[in-house]
Amino acid sequence: MNWKEIYNSRLCTAEEAVKSIKSGDRVAFAHAVAEPAALVNAMVANAAAYKDVEVCHMVTLGKGEYTKPEYIGNFRFNGWFTSPTTRGCIADGHGDFTPVFFHEVPNYIRKGIFALDVFMVMVSPPDEHGYCCVGVSADYTMQGIESAKIVLAQVNDQVPVVFGDTFVHVSKIDKFVEASNPLFELGLPKIGETELAIGKHCAELVDDGSTLQLGIGAIPDAVLQSLKDKKDLGIHSEMISDGVVDLFEAGVINNSKKGLHKNKMIVTFLMGSKRLYDFAKENPALEMRTVDYVNNPCIVAQNTNMVSINSCLAVDFMGQVVSDSIGIKQFSGVGGQVDFVRGAAMSLDGKGKAIIAMPSVATKKDGTMVSKITPYIDHGAAVTTSRNDVDYIVTEYGIAELKGKTLKERARNLINIAHPDFREELKAEYEKRFCAKF
Ligand code: COA
Repeated sequence: MNWKEIYNSRLCTAEEAVKSIKSGDRVAFAHAVAEPAALVNAMVANAAAYKDVEVCHMVTLGKGEYTKPEYIGNFRFNGWFTSPTTRGCIADGHGDFTPVFFHEVPNYIRKGIFALDVFMVMVSPPDEHGYCCVGVSADYTMQGIESAKIVLAQVNDQVPVVFGDTFVHVSKIDKFVEASNPLFELGLPKIGETELAIGKHCAELVDDGSTLQLGIGAIPDAVLQSLKDKKDLGIHSEMISDGVVDLFEAGVINNSKKGLHKNKMIVTFLMGSKRLYDFAKENPALEMRTVDYVNNPCIVAQNTNMVSINSCLAVDFMGQVVSDSIGIKQFSGVGGQVDFVRGAAMSLDGKGKAIIAMPSVATKKDGTMVSKITPYIDHGAAVTTSRNDVDYIVTEYGIAELKGKTLKERARNLINIAHPDFREELKAEYEKRFCAKF
């Protein structure tokens, strides 16, 4: 059969495609903007036909309906990262979370630690050679297609063709469902005085010619706004958002000084607005690679002047960074934070820097303001970046350099960039904690 015959023989409706899912299966799907909404919706609509289907993925921008209490018994969510619509079921006890470094997800799938019965993806229509493109998300998508027993694909003509390790032949997919829908879009981050001040401090740590990784959340994208006066920046990042487009169009990002993949941005997934997806479409300056390559600390380390910029929820006096839980509540996941913190530390040119940037305070659900620099991490919280890995912490009040510093020096450096309203309280805690004058 030629590829067109294969494709046509495997075309079906979403309702038919999800009948391939059987009770007890582990079903994973491509994440973030690549979530195949038509298939996910059809799977939820068919819930009554399933018992105990385990649903796994990283980030979701979708509705996460399979996590709702009415589907207990049909679906069981097991997140490799959690998002606003998937956190609740974990807190309520009927969902679960599996900690995993993002760069290891393909390896877990390959080795069968995350053995997949069914994998659901979203792809572009096939080209004249019979290849579809996974477009906005190469990360674990390519390995899911390779390893799952059954692969279901939503063919969406709004998926941009993006170059790199993103093409899959129609023969690798078991069922195709044609459904055109706009890709998920992220709102632009709110940038106020705090974010601009954080960006300014981060900019002090970014030399011309640096290669950047930008993490998830409002801060990393806001930092880009402070880099407009830099020259010859490059990108080697797990994800990028719209801020990168601005700097590329302004000529600030040109990838000309990169030590690895010169003249190309290397990314594993895209998450932003339609402007970003249009920018990525058939853009020779951008290459998508799988996450076991992009986030592999040994690969990150081959970049020159590597600077990773991520965010967090809290940091304790020792420099233990909490980024993915609030107390016992699972908030997100490690994602690629530690992959890049370690990759920057292992930089072969010895110039890598890992920045964790955050506002100095947060407002809790009950309306109280808390310092994000704390003597001790909250009961039940998980350490994301350990005190051995931490490098620079940045707030709107400055930069705390922690590598090579003693516990007392770390605490003092951190208190000096805490919110002024909390500094006296923190100094008193320092004196109790270390039995020493501040
Ligand atoms: N105590 C209590 N609540 C806190 C808090 C603290 N110390 N710090 C933040 N919060 C609250 C905020 O007030 C906010 O509440 P809201 O949703 O009700 O407004 C919420 O937690 C989220 O905080 P915010 O600072 O807005 O988050 P963000 O969207 O900028 O994301 C992280 C920040 C840390 C959650 C995000 O970067 C992350 O998940 N990191 C881990 C993964 C990672 O770094 N990957 C990098 C490679 S992509």
